[in-house]
Amino acid sequence: MTDLAPVRALKGMKDVLWPASYRWEALVCTFAGLAERAGYGLVMSPVLEEARLFHRGFGDESEVVSKEMYEFDDRDRRRLALRPEGTAPVVRVFVEHHPVVPWKAWYVTPAFRHEQPQAGRYRQHHQVGVEVIGTDDPDLDVEVVALAASLYRALGLERVTLAVNSMGCAQCRAAYVEALRAYLLEHRDELCDEHRDKLDRPLRVLDCKTPECRRVTEKAPKIVDWLDEECAAHFARFNAGLDALGIEHHTEPRLVRGFDYYTRTTFEFAAEALDAAQNAVGGGGRYDGLVERLGGPPAAGIGFGIGIERLLLACDAEGRFEVQPPPLDAFVVDLTGGEAARDLCEDLRRAGLGADRAFDNRSPKAQMRLADRSGARIAVIVGPDELATGEVTFRDLRAGAPERRIGRSELVAALEGSKK
Ligand code: HAM
Repeated sequence: MTDLAPVRALKGMKDVLWPASYRWEALVCTFAGLAERAGYGLVMSPVLEEARLFHRGFGDESEVVSKEMYEFDDRDRRRLALRPEGTAPVVRVFVEHHPVVPWKAWYVTPAFRHEQPQAGRYRQHHQVGVEVIGTDDPDLDVEVVALAASLYRALGLERVTLAVNSMGCAQCRAAYVEALRAYLLEHRDELCDEHRDKLDRPLRVLDCKTPECRRVTEKAPKIVDWLDEECAAHFARFNAGLDALGIEHHTEPRLVRGFDYYTRTTFEFAAEALDAAQNAVGGGGRYDGLVERLGGPPAAGIGFGIGIERLLLACDAEGRFEVQPPPLDAFVVDLTGGEAARDLCEDLRRAGLGADRAFDNRSPKAQMRLADRSGARIAVIVGPDELATGEVTFRDLRAGAPERRIGRSELVAALEGSKK
């Protein structure tokens, strides 16, 4: 039997229509401007990758790989995955094309994670972000964080806080993890059900949001106290740089973030206007071993991803970043069969103006209704009289100025003039 039920979007995946989509456009343009003014170029790469990119990049035990990735065999029986984030794919691009370093890339991308959907958490979300590969200079960490902060500021958000931490390098982290494990073992009985019997990855416990684990980890050893000299100096310079730029921040010793690739600097921005469970509006950090892990040369890296949906929810919650679509300059009302509207719209668009029209030979009344609804400033009306004299009627739909007749050849100038 034929299936006639309408097809709907998948759970946790959303359609975005206008006028809401104007905000997306404006957000991405704003971010592009900020990133490009700081010397970043746009990188684009496929949403589908070989699954082993993410297995190698994040480690098989990371939550994203083990529980959330959309992974499947394609028709050629290759194991593929939809990208769950932007960093590993951008590092793959770097390894494949070996551009000159430091390589400063920005991106806008969908990301796919099979999570339980809720407000602010989707199975397809979108991120704007950057990745910089080729230097471990802590001043770059400052630049990257400042760039993220500049987006929140540009959108008018005022209640976004910044938490920072350092994950150290492989050496100092190994010593710290042992100290943490010993501490957690001492307090094992006080941990949540999941972690009481599972201490193979002590850093995960720091991330656990249950009140039981939070109570225990509050007094746990802090990784910043275990940093070796170089990592400590890196973290100090990073903090001093944020202070110098007036970027408020606090150290959050439990900020470990969900991917195994992080080394040294990690950071997360939280929107206080959102519910605490889903209030991370951006996060990132350094990944100094990732390029090598993915088959490239030794090269340090750092970046961030900012969730567009969550960022817009934060804007709603603070009543900021209301975006109006750019108004059309003219709506052509053609009472002579449609040819005049066809030609005039094309002329106006070629002249760089915004113009629209009705189709299907609608009645004069219906066309005027559409003109009003279109948001255009001016109705350009062509009736049999105007057609005969090579003129149009120029009617201001907003200011209520008296309508007038002008020659067709004067229309572009009249529309330009009416903008002032
Ligand atoms: P992430 O923290 O997993 O990091 O994601 C970055 C941001 O994407 C989050 O702060 C949040 O705003 C948004 N986000 C994540 N998951 C969802 C979801 N299910 N629904 C809605 N929004 C979501 C990364 O992805 C790293 N690649 C960031 C990075 C770049 N680190 C270094 N470079």
